[in-house]
Amino acid sequence: MARARVAFVTGGTRGIGKAISARLRTAGYQVAAGYAGNDVAANAAADELGVMVVKGNVGNFGDCARAIAEVEAALGPIDTLVNNAGITRDAMLHKMTPEQWNEVIYVNLASIFNMSRNVIEGMRDRGFGRIINISSINGQKGQMGQANYAAAKAGVIGFTKSIAMENAKKGITVNAIAPGYIDTEMVSAVPKDVLDKIVSGIPVGRLGMADEIARAVAFLASEDSGFITGSTLTMNGGQYMPS
Ligand code: CAA
Repeated sequence: MARARVAFVTGGTRGIGKAISARLRTAGYQVAAGYAGNDVAANAAADELGVMVVKGNVGNFGDCARAIAEVEAALGPIDTLVNNAGITRDAMLHKMTPEQWNEVIYVNLASIFNMSRNVIEGMRDRGFGRIINISSINGQKGQMGQANYAAAKAGVIGFTKSIAMENAKKGITVNAIAPGYIDTEMVSAVPKDVLDKIVSGIPVGRLGMADEIARAVAFLASEDSGFITGSTLTMNGGQYMPS
């Protein structure tokens, strides 16, 4: 019998990432969920979902190499990488500190290189791989208070297209998903008056649910999606429709 596919989901113990870990587990994957520091949430996710959890800073190349080696030693080669980990440090540019800029660029963008670089050679050797990068509506359209986040999330899309081209002949697909405002802790941190204004601009009339994003990830991870690569799937309730 073929071995179960192995998936690594960064930021996989909370928010959208937790829903992705759960979906992939249900679909029969062995799942490793990365997390930065919240041990309580990580242990709860491990118990609840039956996933391996692995701690490290995705903004640090050495941490990513170590975490991937640990996962591959425990579960086998990684077939599917979901680059989901992300943070916000919202501030208008005229108030943004260099630390707020750098933290978001490292965690949300450098991470995509740090993780992908450490799995790509194995995927190429084996002739199969799926990389799914979580971008954002705000990387597509820009957002007040998010010059750092929007720059990183737009960078994720450029990275996705380039790596898709480089690896298309090797059975590897690389795609991005650009979620809109999803009902997570990250979005509930937006001041209520601002969030109300944002939700009033969503044609579907509500926030998205984490599992709605997770279902799309499961499809892009599957064998059925082999002809889709380099794409950005916009999932935002109609809030923004790039051409
Ligand atoms: N949409 C519409 N208006 C916005 C806005 C937004 N996203 N963000 C700020 N504004 C408006 C405010 O309502 C306010 O308007 P008024 O002057 O008419 O009241 C004006 O801009 C200035 O805002 P603040 O008074 O809040 O200014 P501040 O300097 O105290 O704070 C801020 C600025 C930190 C950017 C704060 O407004 C904020 O947190 N905004 C939300 C930014 C945001 O959308 N973040 C998304 C986080 S979720 C995420 O990132 C996930 C994802 O991928 C979608």
